[in-house]
Amino acid sequence: MAVRVGIVGCGGISRAHVQRGYRLLREKGLADFRLSAVCDVDGRRAEAVADLAASALGEDRPRVFTDPADLVASGTVDAIDCCTAVFAHHPVAVAALAAGIGVTVEKPFAVTVRAGRRMVDAARRSGAVLAISENVHFEPRQRIASWVLEQERIGAPQVIVMGGTGTAAWFPDKIVANTPWRHQRLLAGAGAVLDLGSHSFDTLRTLGGEVVQVSALTRQLVPERLRRGPGGEVVERAVSEVDDVALVLLTFASGAIGMFGTGWGGHGRPTSFAGGLALQCSAGSLQYTEEGGLLAWDDGRTENASALFHREADPALRERFFPQGVTEGFALELRDFLEAVVRHSLPENDGEQGLRNMAVAYAAIESSLLGRGVTLQEILDGRVSTYQDPIDRHWGLL
Ligand SMILES: NC(=O)c1ccc[n+]([C@@H]2O[C@H](COP(=O)([O-])OP(=O)(O)OC[C@H]3O[C@@H](n4cnc5c(N)ncnc54)[C@H](O)[C@@H]3O)[C@@H](O)[C@H]2O)c1
Repeated sequence: MAVRVGIVGCGGISRAHVQRGYRLLREKGLADFRLSAVCDVDGRRAEAVADLAASALGEDRPRVFTDPADLVASGTVDAIDCCTAVFAHHPVAVAALAAGIGVTVEKPFAVTVRAGRRMVDAARRSGAVLAISENVHFEPRQRIASWVLEQERIGAPQVIVMGGTGTAAWFPDKIVANTPWRHQRLLAGAGAVLDLGSHSFDTLRTLGGEVVQVSALTRQLVPERLRRGPGGEVVERAVSEVDDVALVLLTFASGAIGMFGTGWGGHGRPTSFAGGLALQCSAGSLQYTEEGGLLAWDDGRTENASALFHREADPALRERFFPQGVTEGFALELRDFLEAVVRHSLPENDGEQGLRNMAVAYAAIESSLLGRGVTLQEILDGRVSTYQDPIDRHWGLL
């Protein structure tokens, strides 16, 4: 039976899910599903994504809803792909999970750790599937790097350095992704360290193992964000209430240490280093490159990680990672979720992982505010939540 999917939140990322995710899965026959509904509080956006889905997938136009509660009650979906702005993740997910509907939710997992915990608890109570839509987790560089480590080709991770302090797309002061809500604390939770960091903390936890301690400095460099018209004239202004740069030190349970920097504002040019990730291990190193990853050993040997994987990895594993050669993260994350819904099994990147990725971001923010290192456990169990408390209070979570 085809899984009946409803997309909730029909903004920018929902289009990528349709065009780069569902369309590819349909073309390759990699999942049995039907996009049967779309929902957005803005009816025009929902109508536009209904049209897009019908044309991209060549199937009946999905039913259009403007209230997620109506969609949940309609009995038209088995699974919800939550692509709303961050503040709406937990109400949408909790209501759907309580009704036994599987949910995958875009990163960052939730607006606060308490909101995320409500989602994980709702999934546990109902037994419905809860996943994090984390495209980077399924993309070749990360997949192959984790395989290299599992195979003990370069030993165990000792030091991981990742990131940069600027993102060209939003530099120096653009309204990020044309979405002013990303700069509002009650709607987004936090800024770059949560939005961009969620991707990177998935990478860091996948490669380095569990994070146990975080020390960080977060700052806001650009207090006002702008959208400019074609002639450079300012057409929209948004006051920023959140961080736009973060420097984070991490301790992993293994004893490995990490350093991560991120940001989306500043002056001059964004700064980063080649490839964006370097891993020093007990018997060699790995550095991300355009071609994937460069492995190096003490005797001077080097090897392209991707070439090594395609030459030596078990063919069944290669097919599991990249079925029919598909390497598109949006398609692979959605396939993993849909398979879990069909099999009533845990997705590879389940809600608990989404919560933990997000908790590292909040550990960074709380650490900066308190001026001390914090443990991930203090963040996960809510003992440290000074920054998040007003957000939780606003959403009735405290
Ligand atoms: N994986 C990635 O690389 C990636 C890239 C961009 C965005 N995202 C994530 O996707 C999510 C959405 O981001 P976006 O850029 O598409 O934002 P967006 O503002 O373009 O779209 C969000 C949509 O949610 C709708 N919405 C808000 N509250 C709602 C509710 N209660 N019910 C139904 N609809 C509601 C809004 O009307 C809007 O159309 C965020 O979590 C963001 O971090 C992920």
